[in-house]
Amino acid sequence: MMISERSATLDRTACERLDRDDPLRSFKDEFVLPPNTIYLDGNSLGAQTKGAANRAQEVIADEWGTGLIRSWNTAGWFDLPTTLGDKVAGLVGGGAGNTVVTDTTSINLFKAASAALKMQATDAPERRVILTQRENFPSDIYMLQGLAEQLGDDYEVRLVDDAEVTAGFPNTMTAEVALVVLTHVNYRTGRLFDMSSTTSAIHAGGAMVIWDLCHSAGALEIDLAGSGADMAVGCTYKFLNGGPGSPAFIWVAEALHNRATQPLSGWWSHAKQFDMSPEYAPAEGIRRYLTGTHSAISMSVAEVGLNTFGRADMAQVRAKSLALSDLFIDLVEARLSAHPVEVITPREHEHRGSQVSISHPEGFAIMSALIERGIIGDYREPSILRFGLTPLYIGFTDVWDTVEALRDILDNRTWDAPEHKLRSAVT
Ligand SMILES: Cc1ncc(COP(=O)(O)O)c(C=O)c1O
Repeated sequence: MMISERSATLDRTACERLDRDDPLRSFKDEFVLPPNTIYLDGNSLGAQTKGAANRAQEVIADEWGTGLIRSWNTAGWFDLPTTLGDKVAGLVGGGAGNTVVTDTTSINLFKAASAALKMQATDAPERRVILTQRENFPSDIYMLQGLAEQLGDDYEVRLVDDAEVTAGFPNTMTAEVALVVLTHVNYRTGRLFDMSSTTSAIHAGGAMVIWDLCHSAGALEIDLAGSGADMAVGCTYKFLNGGPGSPAFIWVAEALHNRATQPLSGWWSHAKQFDMSPEYAPAEGIRRYLTGTHSAISMSVAEVGLNTFGRADMAQVRAKSLALSDLFIDLVEARLSAHPVEVITPREHEHRGSQVSISHPEGFAIMSALIERGIIGDYREPSILRFGLTPLYIGFTDVWDTVEALRDILDNRTWDAPEHKLRSAVT
């Protein structure tokens, strides 16, 4: 029986049994989780891996402290962008040699979009429109708007609704469209877009596609190369547990590597970096998407998170993620029905990432009351409570306890207190 069929009648004991039978349960021991805390914000900042502090200490004390500058060669620092890139690629179906870990997602998107538009300017100069989701993460929209502004010459960003994307762009894929930038899983609702069919629709319209995998890398199985995608970007600090502000990644389909350069042409993207030539010559292959010197400490800590994922079976991760979110949705509907709570995450598995979002007019105060009890999710405007389900360290009992705490907070209006209405800089 599917978990969703039985979860309306499921009790805490049944959840404990599901946790005991969970093939991924041993992974929880690899994370630092404070006592009496249920951490449901791994879709925003992943939990700390137990190896992170040791690895940082090793890099600082031995590789930096003793090895000094020699460590760029002897400790593998120079190759960290490609070493980590291949590990990310293993999780997103990218194939070896097509990914580097570097910079931030916002910067990588700027580089990827610039290169894609440059390719299109050669092949189809009349195409100057970039489409992206109206509901996309704002930084993606802002970066594209900034790029269009820099380029001038009638470059333009057009925003499209989710339904238009899902339908394959029937109204917006005109002969002016050069590029489509899509976030694979919506950060607010948790909606998942089908990479393969959407990529095909975009290519049929003569445009290129860049996928933002921030909310899907490490959360579900992805087949970038198999879907025919052109480029992708994403971060390592959410589901991949790389640490706060850990470096992002950029993936470019092998056939496109050398077709264009990107504009942030720092010395790390040069063909002969240490020739120190005043003439720029881009590196062959994916290294041309690098820019400047990376943080060896940050990269090394991020690698611990990637190594943990390297040992997990992504099919099991996805199966557990869907079982957890089915349970969450069913329990919200069965046990919070007396309150104005709405599940805004899609019910269909093929349209769902690895989070459950619910809305309530007092969402901010409710989340504050939950956090006070050690249950950490987050809040996004307007009225949305987000719960990230990270199968390596979240269990079925955690979901049960979260929905029960929500029920108690709603039934007793615990949220209706001045301290739950105060807003900090980061929600
Ligand atoms: C979908 C998505 N894209 C882009 C970004 C921006 O990432 P960064 O701030 O690392 O550039 C985020 C950040 O959370 C995101 O969720």
